[in-house]
Amino acid sequence: MPREEAALAREADRRRTFAIISHPDAGKTTLTEKLLLYAGMVDEAGLVRGRRNSRSVKSDWMAMERERGISVTATALSFEFRGRRINLIDTPGHQDFSEDTYRVLNAADAAVMVLDASKGIEPQTEKLFRVCADRRTPILTFVNKMDRPGADPLGCLGQIEEVLGIDAAPVNWPIGPGPGRNFRGVLDLTTDSVQVYKPVPHGATAVPTESASRSAARGTLLSEEEADHLDDEAELIRTAGHPFDRERFLDGAQTPVYFGSALTNFGIEPFLDGFLGLAPPPGPRPAVDGAVPPERPGFSGVVFKMQANLDPRHRDRVAFVRVCSGRFERDMEATVARTGEKFRVARSVRLFGQERETVEDAFPGDVIGIVTSAGLRLGDTLCEGDPVRFTGRWSFPPERFAVVRCDDTNRRKQFVKGLQQLGEEGVVQLLIDPAKSSLEPILAAVGELQFDVVKFRLETEYGTKAVVSPLPYSSACWMTGPAAALARPMLRSDVRLVRDRDGSPVLLSTTDWALRMVREQNPDLTFDPHPPSG
Ligand code: G4P
Repeated sequence: MPREEAALAREADRRRTFAIISHPDAGKTTLTEKLLLYAGMVDEAGLVRGRRNSRSVKSDWMAMERERGISVTATALSFEFRGRRINLIDTPGHQDFSEDTYRVLNAADAAVMVLDASKGIEPQTEKLFRVCADRRTPILTFVNKMDRPGADPLGCLGQIEEVLGIDAAPVNWPIGPGPGRNFRGVLDLTTDSVQVYKPVPHGATAVPTESASRSAARGTLLSEEEADHLDDEAELIRTAGHPFDRERFLDGAQTPVYFGSALTNFGIEPFLDGFLGLAPPPGPRPAVDGAVPPERPGFSGVVFKMQANLDPRHRDRVAFVRVCSGRFERDMEATVARTGEKFRVARSVRLFGQERETVEDAFPGDVIGIVTSAGLRLGDTLCEGDPVRFTGRWSFPPERFAVVRCDDTNRRKQFVKGLQQLGEEGVVQLLIDPAKSSLEPILAAVGELQFDVVKFRLETEYGTKAVVSPLPYSSACWMTGPAAALARPMLRSDVRLVRDRDGSPVLLSTTDWALRMVREQNPDLTFDPHPPSG
């Protein structure tokens, strides 16, 4: 392997890029904090949460980020630990589940699924899991809140298998879980050793830990009664549980399960060790002409998130790119695969809250923000050298539709620009009825909440009030086929033909039945509920 390629492979190999999937309140934020604490990135936990709530803490936090080389951005948190570069991609829409969440999961190589020990698999966990399962993303599970009454470790294992349909392979097992403060530590099932923890106030620092083999722990770290109970459970879990199988894990068919409490820090260290040992480095990414390995010498990356107006002072857009191959260098020239246009990437940034810091270089697995005025879209591939075009789903079949109007004639320009940008960010899809004015586009989204987001952002970022009126359609299908058939489709009164932003025909229908009838009457045409991918 040439020297440059070997260096690249080394850099890619030490990256671990992952996302946390969980239902709100399961403990994602707390676990993130504790990972930073145990990775030695913060001295005391509590700052990530503080950052969310308080301005002064926020600036302290930002100063510290820079000092320690951590970046907590709108999109990825990145830090060095034991020779690895860890990139934790934020899954937004945390309380308000949105398409954005699906999209950012495309940028991760692994996922950590956090469960509340007494609630098991909750609706949002399941939704996010399905997205990961679609891509066979390897998933590690952390069963959190083992200190809480009602914690049910066996129940969680059962739910993973029954609800999600994958094998659960416990790597460790809680000691004395259950009501009140009985959760004391974990038994490592691979080494048959016990770790027992001493609580620290507010879980603010790493917990003192004592370890011993299971047999040596009897009568020392554990009472005879606790040891007997643990022996019974270890026996049960050995015979009933699945042994860990690396291949099945990497294929997304099995999840290694760790138990702990992010609040008290019990079980965090074994989980972090497990994560470092098991989470895969960046692998080949699927592309139109075959998978692209990270050590491909030319840079390539995919735009997985767009955000306009992150900073009201700049009023520009940031395209978040996951580097997939090669080395990114500031000022390099990259081609946008969709259009063939070349551009010099002069402004590549990491974001710290409202502030920006220039990124000079990046490697596969890393996330960079590219400041652009226009030209990039969600799902776009940027590349150097031979053209590459990554595949992936960046838009989802819309189920809600509304027409949007601007009543203020003086603000029409801002209205049009705002809608265009929000469309490019993927907040909604914009459809145009050729028979109507372009000032009355149709908004299409998976959930109605997106319409409120559009209204709110048009008002706050573009100073224009919009009136959004729901439409009765329930599905959209992209139509393709011979030009003659496309030019004169047979339609009905309960469907409507509109165009997407590229001018492609889209059929809106009120009912499944109406759509079925149109399909039958137009046998030469194909109807696809999935928008063409970027
Ligand atoms: P999220 O990001 O997934 O939404 O969850 P987050 O970490 O914010 O945690 C949600 C609530 O659960 C918080 O309580 C947090 O303290 C608590 N929590 C997280 N991990 C554990 C755990 O291991 N054990 C116990 N007992 N509680 C845990 P809160 O009251 O909503 O917030 P706060 O007042 O504690 O900040």
